[in-house]
Amino acid sequence: MIQRQKPFGFTVQHAAPALSIVAPAYNERENIRPLVHAIAHAMGEMTWELIIVDDDSPDGTAREIAALAGEGAPVRCIRRVGRRGLASAVVEGVLAATSELIAVIDADLQHDETRLPVMLDLLKTTDVDLVIGSRHVAGGGVGEWNQHRQRMSRVATWIAHRLAGVRVSDPMSGFFAVRQSVVEATIYDLSQQGYKILLDILTASQRPLKVAEVGYVFRERHAGTSKLDVVVLIEYAFLLIDKLTRGLIPPRFVLFCAIGGLGLMCHIAVLDVAIGQGVSFLRAQGIATLCAMAFNYVLNNAITYRSARLKGVRFVLGYLVFSAVCSLGALANISVANLTLNEMGSWPLAGIAGALMSSVFNFGVATHFVWRP
Ligand code: GDD
Ligand code: MN
Repeated sequence: MIQRQKPFGFTVQHAAPALSIVAPAYNERENIRPLVHAIAHAMGEMTWELIIVDDDSPDGTAREIAALAGEGAPVRCIRRVGRRGLASAVVEGVLAATSELIAVIDADLQHDETRLPVMLDLLKTTDVDLVIGSRHVAGGGVGEWNQHRQRMSRVATWIAHRLAGVRVSDPMSGFFAVRQSVVEATIYDLSQQGYKILLDILTASQRPLKVAEVGYVFRERHAGTSKLDVVVLIEYAFLLIDKLTRGLIPPRFVLFCAIGGLGLMCHIAVLDVAIGQGVSFLRAQGIATLCAMAFNYVLNNAITYRSARLKGVRFVLGYLVFSAVCSLGALANISVANLTLNEMGSWPLAGIAGALMSSVFNFGVATHFVWRP
């Protein structure tokens, strides 16, 4: 192994490090340098590399990583453009790691990097597959969390225990160490939806994983802001749907249909108001259709296809294509409904068949032509 001392104080290695550390980051520029120093301090003489998976953060996170690498820090950046998502970022980082032993840690210093050597040691000296940094075992805690966040976390954990059947104390944790081969073995069964990559790995594995837990206290955030929002909660619901339907129904399709249902309500409401204002039925129906289409488009762009969200001119062009797709979908709806009515003679059945036809059509075509993955 060739070793060279750089002015920055990091030892440059030309062999796989003992630990590959993967950190997902979105708008964490100010946290990157303190994170690298904190890890260097915690790892001491042990060799490591840090892979930061940055979804093209507008705040210049990637530039900061490049600057640190230039100073000799063992850090590199995987930069994803036009995509978002914590879970998928972690998976890509894990696959790019050069060591078989991997730790996943947030880039915002809320996880406790001083636990990394203990986690690494457990992977090295025992046969555990996974070491989970847990807030709910001895030495762990949620720190400064307010009541609301604590309650939310408790409910999410309770659901994971009941619905997904996992037994670990903190399935919501984003801080863990794992063997690369364990992730590779589950790769085709991972949902990669939303935030909960640990829960995803635990439930995707074909064999029960051997797990160890290490307590840590969740720290307060000092710079930047949390990305946890309502959409992240919805994504959690969809991770669970994906698990419960064994991946048969794409969660995105469920979301697309749910928004379609809301769009229908929006349609009826606008129709009601317009007719109340004395507008003729045909004109009111036209206005309501346009409103519902815009409503569906905006919500799908913000939630369903959030990781491929369209902005600016592409948002406008996307709307035009989406409207065209929906118009074709409506034609498909009417044709199938008509056919079903003639064949089966039942109008409710015909209505459902038509709606199902247009939902599948709109979803399939919109996924490929409007929000290309
Ligand atoms: N690449 C990428 N893409 N990174 C992301 C994205 C994204 O879309 N969204 C969030 N991140 C990064 C953040 O920059 C941060 O480093 C880390 O993922 C966690 O995101 P936060 O937004 O800070 O999450 P949190 O502190 O509210 O949630 C934490 O608590 C959960 C348990 O309650 C995280 O530790 C989660 O991993 C954990 O599950
Ligand atoms: Mn955080």
